[in-house]
Amino acid sequence: MVHSLVIASKYKNDFHFRSTYQAITLLLGYHLIKMIRDGTVFDDDHLPRTIVERDPEMNEVTGALAPIERDLQAENCFLFGPSGVGKTTVARAAVRELRREVLEVPYTHVNCWRNYSKHAVLEEIALNLVNIPVSRNASTIDLNRRIQDSFEGPGVVILDEIDQLEEPDLLYDLDQIRGLSCIAIANREIDLFAGLEDRVRSRVSAGYRVTFDRYSEQTIIDILDRRAREGLTPHAVSDRVLEEIALRVDGDARTAIRSLRVAANKSIRKGFSSIDIELVDESTIQAKGDIQRKAISKLNQHQRVVHEIVSEQGPIMQKELYDRYRDQHADPVSLRYLRKKHLPKLLHYNLVECEKNGTKKLYRSVTHN
Ligand SMILES: Nc1ncnc2c1ncn2[C@@H]1O[C@H](COP(=O)(O)OP(=O)(O)OP(=O)(O)O)[C@@H](O)[C@H]1O
Ligand SMILES: [Mg+2]
Repeated sequence: MVHSLVIASKYKNDFHFRSTYQAITLLLGYHLIKMIRDGTVFDDDHLPRTIVERDPEMNEVTGALAPIERDLQAENCFLFGPSGVGKTTVARAAVRELRREVLEVPYTHVNCWRNYSKHAVLEEIALNLVNIPVSRNASTIDLNRRIQDSFEGPGVVILDEIDQLEEPDLLYDLDQIRGLSCIAIANREIDLFAGLEDRVRSRVSAGYRVTFDRYSEQTIIDILDRRAREGLTPHAVSDRVLEEIALRVDGDARTAIRSLRVAANKSIRKGFSSIDIELVDESTIQAKGDIQRKAISKLNQHQRVVHEIVSEQGPIMQKELYDRYRDQHADPVSLRYLRKKHLPKLLHYNLVECEKNGTKKLYRSVTHN
């Protein structure tokens, strides 16, 4: 038995031997096939030690935070760009770097998709940054006052997906909190400041802007290579596998990392000791589907209704889509608000796509599996 395994292992990349090898390794049990060294490095919230090819962006964000080292308040810093290009990662890594320089700078990371009201964000800040108990029925004004009175600074708040805030003038309130520095992350600048009064906009939009582009295929390969070295055993993945993944993810590191993880799991289940290149295509499709399902689970009620209409009745014109949404939602927002706030999120996460036909817009759903 062991002898057959040695022979089969030697020829495992040969097509004719593959099924024999597979059968034998399966017989011996999965425990002999050790491909995963540290599965946690594939988690979406894992903060990598090295941020690959984002030195200019890292320098801009750490530069923006630098006044904190001299006990001063930093200017707001805005990060813009498509999905999976490292905005959240760079923001968290910049705060990590700051905390290496300045001991115990308090910070909090608020996701405004989940915490979309001013009250919810202030509550997070009160609890995690200022450490004050929050009574359930404290009003927004109360919360704001208590934070302003108790917070000494310095401190940093990362406002992730800030374009989902119902009241973007929150930035104005945060601006009044002495010693509090904000890193705000959104997909596009236009979605963030639209709808704010001029006076508020000119006040809160001052600050650094850092724009992130999609990664090149080579950078995706480098990101995957580092992740594989940390998370998989040596020789578990070939350069060709990484190249094939990079070709399929359109510069999105999240999809690339998820694809690698899915391909590793599939290969282990099939009894291989390294990732089978033939599994890359289906792994990438599955990874995109997984990411899409996760994004769907985060949709708010308005986005969910719109997504369901497009999925069930698309392709559909914007006007018709809005009419149906208004019929189906108990408390519909205006067409303008829907266009500004909710449709861009569905497009950003590649849940729907939009085709322009002259002045008309046609929406259809994107499905992976
Ligand atoms: N330069 C990089 N080096 C190493 N890992 C990276 C890099 N950029 C992104 N990643 C990894 O890719 C994944 C997605 O990155 P991130 O969450 O920062 O994207 P994002 O731009 O915030 O996307 P979204 O708009 O969807 O929130 C994370 O798992 C992160 O660890
Ligand atoms: Mg993010």
